[in-house]
Amino acid sequence: NNRIKIKTLLSGDAAGQQVTVMGWVRSFRNNQFIALNDGSTNNNLQVVVELGQLDEPTLKRITTGASLKITGQVVESLGKGQKLEVKATTLEILGDCDAEKYPLQLKNRPSLEYLREIAHLRFRTNTFGAIFRVRHALAFAIHEFFNKQGFVYLHTPIITASDAEGAGETFRVTTLPFDNPPRTAAGEIDFAEDFFGKSTNLTVSGQLEGELGAMAFSEVYTFGPTFRAENSNTTRHLAEFWMIEPEMAFYDLEDNMNLAEAFIKYLIGYVMTNNREDLEFLDQRLAEEEKQKPQAERSEMGLIEKLEFVLNNNFERITYTEAIRILLDSPAYKKKKFKYDVSWGIDMQSEHERYLVEKHFKKPVIVTNYPKDIKAFYMRLNDDGKTVAAMDILAPGIGEIVGGSQREERLEKLEGRMHDMHIPTEELNWYLDTRRYGAVPHAGFGLGFERIVLFVTGMTNIRDVIPFARTPKNCEF
Ligand code: 4AD
Ligand code: MG
Repeated sequence: NNRIKIKTLLSGDAAGQQVTVMGWVRSFRNNQFIALNDGSTNNNLQVVVELGQLDEPTLKRITTGASLKITGQVVESLGKGQKLEVKATTLEILGDCDAEKYPLQLKNRPSLEYLREIAHLRFRTNTFGAIFRVRHALAFAIHEFFNKQGFVYLHTPIITASDAEGAGETFRVTTLPFDNPPRTAAGEIDFAEDFFGKSTNLTVSGQLEGELGAMAFSEVYTFGPTFRAENSNTTRHLAEFWMIEPEMAFYDLEDNMNLAEAFIKYLIGYVMTNNREDLEFLDQRLAEEEKQKPQAERSEMGLIEKLEFVLNNNFERITYTEAIRILLDSPAYKKKKFKYDVSWGIDMQSEHERYLVEKHFKKPVIVTNYPKDIKAFYMRLNDDGKTVAAMDILAPGIGEIVGGSQREERLEKLEGRMHDMHIPTEELNWYLDTRRYGAVPHAGFGLGFERIVLFVTGMTNIRDVIPFARTPKNCEF
């Protein structure tokens, strides 16, 4: 099989060569011009069949969605929009596609909502082709970034016995029968009889295990799926999402922020260089979508312009206390535009976060030193006794994309916090050992992978940047 991918063909100088291409028909005009796509690029290859070359039944089978194998000669194209095309010498139909039934056989551009219903086919559209090539590139760039800096990629477990965030949003993993499970003397389900001999769940974060790795390798990261049974049906939440969590020994909060900012910029820079074509397509798509909105609601910058801006400007850095002050002083607050009230101690709602990044600073913002009562047990207590060394990165159009902190490395303080939050220390003895044996200051963060894909692609619904979204009441594919 000496097949050449369409992207390679179109970007090279193959004129005069004999090639084999395979792909799916995007359109067929005048019984002569086939637009063929193989997913390597949104640019279709024009394949020309000579009039009279194919019999009538074969011509009828060249429908949108059908798969073809074509051999032919690469020639300079006379048509506009492409440099090269292929003159077919042989054409084989690999798989027919019933034009009457094919869900993507549409005259108008299908809506994103409609495509979500046929997520098993939507990869074949230009929009999703571009999105998932960019998603792939970002995943690759993540490994490249950390590998270059000597981080060790640590595979943290999917099944755990802990709830790292202590938020009680875990999916349980069990092999116990639903009808008549074993019970303890007290009548409760007896997880001692379960597969692992205890109650287990899908991980909400690989951080705790990441910390164990950092205490040996100095710098590690995990990148894998995480699961949260939070019942928030929003455009920013998934029940199954991917997270990147670096964890670094000898880092304080500022080192952590510096790494997170450099990391995000690296990812953006990577796709700007390597996925230009797809970004230009998505930029155009977004511009068309924006045109449908009333003038006042349109974003000021195009997608590529926004990415360039983020690359070339420092993230704003403010404390939580400053953020609350800005919100209280804002016209939005004074005119009662916020749905949720603002006061020191609140867990900022997305409307507040978006005000800060979109209206006030107009750039990504790192908010630090949150009240301890709204943050996880492992964050380092500040000297004021009220706040912890946390940092969240908020991005325009999205809100929170990163959550991180310097960790509490002092055993008594950590145990005290766990006690206050009713987290049993016995079950996390393995974790506490890192504070007993050679503890060091350390820090880390979690970047929501789909959130950064949203940001880079300019998409607005998180269901559109993961191949198969899991959200409340939805596990179709
Ligand atoms: O802020 P979170 O909950 O932090 C942690 O899990 C820490 N253990 C990370 C660490 O310090 N190692 O989640 C981190 C990020 C959020 O900022 C957000 O981008 C993303 O994960 N995230 C979600 N993305 C999609 N759907 C959800 N339900 C998400 N929940 C969090
Ligand atoms: Mg968070």
